Amino acid sequence: MALGGARATTAVRKSARFTQADVRAAVAGLRGPVFFQASLREYTSFKIGGPADVVVEPADIEDVCLVVQQARARKIPLFVVGGTNLLIRDGGIRGIVVSLVRLRAIKEEPGHVLYAEGGVGMPTLIGYAIKHSLAGLEWAAGIPGTVAGCVVMNAGTKLGEMKDTVKAVHMVNLKGQTVDLEASQIPFEYRWARLPRGIVVGVSLQLKPGVRVEMEKVVKDYLHYRGDTQPLAMPSAGCVFKNPPNDSAGRLIETVGLKGARVGDAEVSTKHANFMVNRGQARAADVIALIGKVRTTIRRRVGVRLDLELKIVGEA
Ligand code: EPU
Repeated sequence: MALGGARATTAVRKSARFTQADVRAAVAGLRGPVFFQASLREYTSFKIGGPADVVVEPADIEDVCLVVQQARARKIPLFVVGGTNLLIRDGGIRGIVVSLVRLRAIKEEPGHVLYAEGGVGMPTLIGYAIKHSLAGLEWAAGIPGTVAGCVVMNAGTKLGEMKDTVKAVHMVNLKGQTVDLEASQIPFEYRWARLPRGIVVGVSLQLKPGVRVEMEKVVKDYLHYRGDTQPLAMPSAGCVFKNPPNDSAGRLIETVGLKGARVGDAEVSTKHANFMVNRGQARAADVIALIGKVRTTIRRRVGVRLDLELKIVGEA
């Protein structure tokens, strides 16, 4: 996410600019759990990814500030693992990987505003909003990511996108200090928010009064639509490609006959061609080879360049 993940190329090896001792010092004193040489597979919806030097799960926002400050002092890169729309290469990530899973508070504020910490899952947040008759998030039904991840990539569906409801974003900056940004200060683009570098630790959403049964119906219908058209039961990273203007990447991939195409255990979903699924033991290298095959075929046969929605990080 926003904090320097793709830059994680220095290793805790001979060539490293930081040592294992530096890494240990940078995560010392955290109240949340710390896992050395942790597999990143379980932190992604794709169930793919090599090891991290260390994964930390900060207990709260103060803990996030501490790890940012301590990593900065030792020039150790940090990467925030969001979990969906993410492919981690097979060599994993050097430096410190931060998971926000423990930042889970939600509270309702005056004026139909919902504040959620960054690690709150969208399904949980939608459930909370419906329970409190707050409308405006129904478009996100079925998105499995965290609210922070959804802000960073301005997640969206046909019914809406994150920018429609964001009121303010609470971040920890590169110095390890908390900062608040109003939505008007954030340029939101197609599947991308131009945020300053740092970690999104909380989001305020401007919702409106809603009728609970009506909201439940919208969410239920949309979940049915997604269940009927997308391979939700298999590990995947959601849509792999951005839709080209006025078209659907899935439709194009189907027309060139690539549904079901495979490299190793990576497969173009037979249900929705813009999804790739992990049939069990897929490696990142398999997914990347399959992406290359799809892009080349679409460019040659249809003349369209498909851009990635999926974010690819880590070492090969
Ligand atoms: N289609 C095909 N073959 C396929 C897939 C789709 O012909 O294999 C056709 C469908 O029949 C339909 C059209 O393409 O006529 C559009 O399909 P769909 O309704 O599934 O929407 P999409 O444009 O493929 C977008 C989002 C999804 C989101 C759905 C539903 C993007 C890149 N994709 O998909 O988001 O769930 O609408 O709102 O914006 C994601 O972002 O990870 C994601 C999956």
